[in-house]
Amino acid sequence: MKNNYDYKVSAAGRVNLIGEHVDYCGGKVLPAALSLRNTVYVKPNGTDKLNLSWTDIPDKITLDIDKLDDYRDVKYANYPAGSALMWQRAGKKIVGCDMLYDCTVPFGSGLSSSAAIEVSTIAALATAAGEEIDPVEIALLAQKAEREYTGVNCGIMDQYASACGKKNHAILLDCKTLEREYVNIDLGNCTLVIINCKKPHNLVESKYNERRAETEEALEKLKTKKNVSCLADLTPMEFACIGGVLEGKVKDRARHVVEECERVRLAVQAMKAGNMVELGSLLNASHASLRDLYEVTGKELDTLAAVAQAHPACLGSRMTGAGFGGCTVSLVRKSGAESFKKQVTEEYFKATGYRAEVYDASIDDGIRVEKL
Ligand code: GLA
Repeated sequence: MKNNYDYKVSAAGRVNLIGEHVDYCGGKVLPAALSLRNTVYVKPNGTDKLNLSWTDIPDKITLDIDKLDDYRDVKYANYPAGSALMWQRAGKKIVGCDMLYDCTVPFGSGLSSSAAIEVSTIAALATAAGEEIDPVEIALLAQKAEREYTGVNCGIMDQYASACGKKNHAILLDCKTLEREYVNIDLGNCTLVIINCKKPHNLVESKYNERRAETEEALEKLKTKKNVSCLADLTPMEFACIGGVLEGKVKDRARHVVEECERVRLAVQAMKAGNMVELGSLLNASHASLRDLYEVTGKELDTLAAVAQAHPACLGSRMTGAGFGGCTVSLVRKSGAESFKKQVTEEYFKATGYRAEVYDASIDDGIRVEKL
């Protein structure tokens, strides 16, 4: 079936090592692209239609290139349609195509299956129309699709990592300027373990948008004390001086953002110095802040992180992504990794009744295009 196509175009899911819920506050983040990917097999079909099909669901949906705005409520097709629409609105050439989707990023896992679908859709359409592939431009259009078409007011981290990732590297991305630095992921005798808590996601979108609004409210109030353009402009020390203008939850949310930005800075230093113990303790501190100040974890993610942190081979563990379900990422000594996976999933099951899933994934490139 896959042989009937001209190109195989894929984009990555991502894991964020640290820097959570700071991208939309102008902070730096440290994601890495994964070998879990969405692949689009594509070929031009000479019509004005995009014929979508999937390897794992029987649906077949046809999108009219001239009516791409009409598919917002069509399950499965909304992400491809929104992405195609943003590409078209950017003045790019779009041609009718047959497109077969094959996604190995688990849905609702916090590993950015939606970004992988958006980015690979645009890269596939660009390839089919003979347009240039500019990964940063594609990431920005994919983010626009998520915000304007599906209504999640997301930052740039996921789409950027999905498009611009690099094998064996994390991306230190400044979300204010879009400057980036690739940081070699050399974890010495340690490895990363990604585990899905398998709690069904709900209300993620509304809670996500609510957190965003709270950080905006905090920024407006802080601006009355200091001339800043985003929360990430503040150091923890500066925040200690002027944070008194905020109160309650809004103050907690802003404090998380300011301190998480500082942890990103320290984590990159620790990675470059090969100090895994320090990196691990920063991951733990990030989780605690997301639990206590930002309140985006929930019982299942907290239990999973706690049983992970208690394992002797684990140097640190935290939730990754938007939260409210999804995955943790843990820094684990290679020698104890198998025992870690077994014991953590067993203890988590005993505590919650959910069967956690461990993913076997490596750090991979972003967009990849292959001629078939
Ligand atoms: C989601 C969003 C990202 C980012 C993370 C939290 O994955 O899409 O932009 O805000 O949540 O760090």
